Amino acid sequence: MKTKALIAPSILSADFSKMREELASIKNSGADWVHVDVMDGHFVPNLTFGPPVIKMFRQHSDMIFDVHLMIEEPERWIDAYKEAGANRLTFHIEACKHAHRYLTAIREKGMASGITLNPQTSLTEVEYILEECDQVLLMSVNPGFGGQKFIEPVLEKIKNLRKMIDCKGLKTQIQVDGGINLENSQRIYEAGADILVMGSAFFKASDKKSLVDKIHSL
Ligand code: DX5
Ligand code: ZN
Repeated sequence: MKTKALIAPSILSADFSKMREELASIKNSGADWVHVDVMDGHFVPNLTFGPPVIKMFRQHSDMIFDVHLMIEEPERWIDAYKEAGANRLTFHIEACKHAHRYLTAIREKGMASGITLNPQTSLTEVEYILEECDQVLLMSVNPGFGGQKFIEPVLEKIKNLRKMIDCKGLKTQIQVDGGINLENSQRIYEAGADILVMGSAFFKASDKKSLVDKIHSL
């Protein structure tokens, strides 16, 4: 039987000037993890924040920090994100030459390991390193910005990844990120996703707790 869907609100859509309250609103909603989007202005055409700022967010939340690195040379920063308070660390396969090595290094530091694929990147890129992945994050928008539209063919990619993971008898979780809202969440979950990242739809919701309850009962 499929486990219930988890929801990881993305603070990219939060009001950065009152992050303490925004983090409290995530906690009070009953959501599962906090999704933290790190952008370097090179790998993606946008900039957010890095370890020192995440360390400050950490002071205001005891939730799981699920850090999504959209940066070049992610391997240089594993220790820094661990120290900043990351519990889960995911990097882009398109930004890394030795993914197997860095997945292993992330686990050795006591964090959950994740790899992420842009919408056009084939699943064969992760097929032979799945054992090292606690999660695979499938991007369902082009990374860089919140509020974009879900790319529909990613649904088939989720189904294929589910088959690949089940076939190998692994526990790797599938996370999907970009353009997710209450309307399309059912289809994404049924395709095989375990964790739904939600930015704009979460922060726009007037009743966040009811949104989270609905995701939990998909
Ligand atoms: C996009 C980020 C997402 C973003 C999702 O590059 O990785 O996590 O915050 O935002 P929505 O849910 O608005 O598409
Ligand atoms: Zn993200």
